[in-house]
Amino acid sequence: MAAKQLLQEIPTDLLRERMPRHVAVIMDGNGRWAKRRAMPRIMGHRKGVDVLKDLLRCCRDWGIEALTAYAFSTENWGRPTEEVEFLMTLFERVLRKELREMMKENVQIRFVGNLEMLPDSLREEIDRAVEATRVNTGIRFTIATNYGGRQEILQACRSIAAAVKDGTLALEDIDESIFERNLYTNGICDPDLLIRTSGEMRISNFLLWQMAYAEIYVTDTMWPDFDRAQFHTALRDYQSRERRFGKVGIQL
Ligand code: FPP
Repeated sequence: MAAKQLLQEIPTDLLRERMPRHVAVIMDGNGRWAKRRAMPRIMGHRKGVDVLKDLLRCCRDWGIEALTAYAFSTENWGRPTEEVEFLMTLFERVLRKELREMMKENVQIRFVGNLEMLPDSLREEIDRAVEATRVNTGIRFTIATNYGGRQEILQACRSIAAAVKDGTLALEDIDESIFERNLYTNGICDPDLLIRTSGEMRISNFLLWQMAYAEIYVTDTMWPDFDRAQFHTALRDYQSRERRFGKVGIQL
């Protein structure tokens, strides 16, 4: 209990001024976590939701401005139908159940991805949550659902090309900031730190443009076991790195 309480404060070995502004997570290993316990895969996803909720609170407690979680990729439709249906229902239920709490905690919720393909009832919950929390000024919580980085870049290209075609944008005016404005993540700063659980060293089509200079931290821990202590370790590792953004390191 005491240890848990202590972790509500920024741990003393972390520097407040060197906290990442934006953390992104690939929540991998739910299925394997469940299988190791002889449980159905969906139990891993259920536990995964609790872990995500705690991480969101932890980010808020430790002064991180934004958290983005990869909940469902464009490739995840290839999973067994029952699992896909379970996940869609889970997202919907979690949104409905947690909205009041998110409002109380001043969380701003956003979704990125191609939402048109999601079940109508889920889209309604998404619209409700996004609309209700738009005014909130606390942590920005982005959920990537039916998200693919390549698909996001393609849709940005299409909308820029359409603007050029109808004469509202000149070809020579296309720059990084115009491009970013056409991404789903418009208005959200790029992630400083990507955490991937369960040991895989891949980006898996997640935030391809935005991750250009993100620090990547991979842990063997399965997502359902990723707790504040593990997050603390990830942040310590992050703060020990020298971020150069392609330039020469600055000696402080
Ligand atoms: C990857 O583990 C996890 C997912 C594809 C789903 C993650 C979703 C949640 C934790 C729910 C989030 C809820 C909201 C509302 C945002 P895996 O199934 O690929 O695990 P495996 O690699 O062990 O098979």
